[in-house]
Amino acid sequence: MLKIALTGADGMVGSRIVELLNPDFQFIPLYQSKMDITEKPQVQKKLSNLDFDIFLHLAAYTNVAGAEQHKELAYKINRDGTRNIFEIVDNKKKKFIYVSSDFIFDGKNPPYFEDSKPNPQDVYASSKYAGEKIVKDRAMIIRIAYPYRADFASKKDFFRTFKSLLEQNKRLVAINDSLLTPTFIDDIAYCLKYLINNFSPEIFHLVGSAPLSPYRAAIQIADKFSLDKSLIGKTTHAEYVKLKPGLPKLSDIRSKKNNFYKMKSFKEGLSEIAKQLQNF
Ligand SMILES: NC(=O)c1ccc[n+]([C@@H]2O[C@H](COP(=O)([O-])OP(=O)(O)OC[C@H]3O[C@@H](n4cnc5c(N)ncnc54)[C@H](OP(=O)(O)O)[C@@H]3O)[C@@H](O)[C@H]2O)c1
Repeated sequence: MLKIALTGADGMVGSRIVELLNPDFQFIPLYQSKMDITEKPQVQKKLSNLDFDIFLHLAAYTNVAGAEQHKELAYKINRDGTRNIFEIVDNKKKKFIYVSSDFIFDGKNPPYFEDSKPNPQDVYASSKYAGEKIVKDRAMIIRIAYPYRADFASKKDFFRTFKSLLEQNKRLVAINDSLLTPTFIDDIAYCLKYLINNFSPEIFHLVGSAPLSPYRAAIQIADKFSLDKSLIGKTTHAEYVKLKPGLPKLSDIRSKKNNFYKMKSFKEGLSEIAKQLQNF
């Protein structure tokens, strides 16, 4: 059985990957409490004697708004932390998978495929892209977009944020003239199963099958979970970025390379989540 060492194993995406692929691989989680990726000597000590086949690097500074205030920290974790791990993994001649983000594209000329030109607009995106540049051509780069899942206590994705507001009968204002490409985390996990078994140092977009506006996404959530659609208002991207700068407008992300797993649309993902929630 392949041994996968990974960072970010208790994060929103990583914890679901481990949950779903536990029967297929032997996971070796490297939690921050045991290995802070910004502490090079600690990383060196931990990894030099560790036996693994592939390193899956999910840990990141993921607070997009926070990164604007904490630029140094975002780079320290997303760029320098990535370098600290990659240098050792590369020296050991082991395979490395870096998880990146759709935010590295500027959202001005969609769609964005694996070979489209990145043009990060904010600190988070620039720091993630800096991580990509460290490993490029020598590791697999997985770009994911707006990952969502049925449940995860520690952090809300956009789907659960919208759903929770509507469940509390709170008004929700969603952008009507922008696009996002929501990606069901279970699909990301099953794609990774294939890619781990068929490793190649290339870029792959693991993204939902179709983009939609945040407004349409909110309506689909209300429809699926019988919530009050009249609570959903519209705003524009231009208005939104006055308060929260940096959000790419047209995050229509697609893959030319994913011919191995059929990704769900948002509607299909919501149906699967509704089934999963009934079984909780
Ligand atoms: N969520 C999204 O919308 C999204 C979209 C596109 C791409 N991505 C990428 O997908 C990956 C996973 O995202 P996520 O949403 O699952 O992240 P998350 O839930 O915010 O978790 C971040 C993980 O990174 C760990 N971490 C942070 N700083 C660390 C450090 N200095 N040393 C070691 N570990 C550290 C955290 O450990 P603690 O739990 O100990 O803090 C946590 O396990 C990231 O690379 C992210 O950039 C996410």
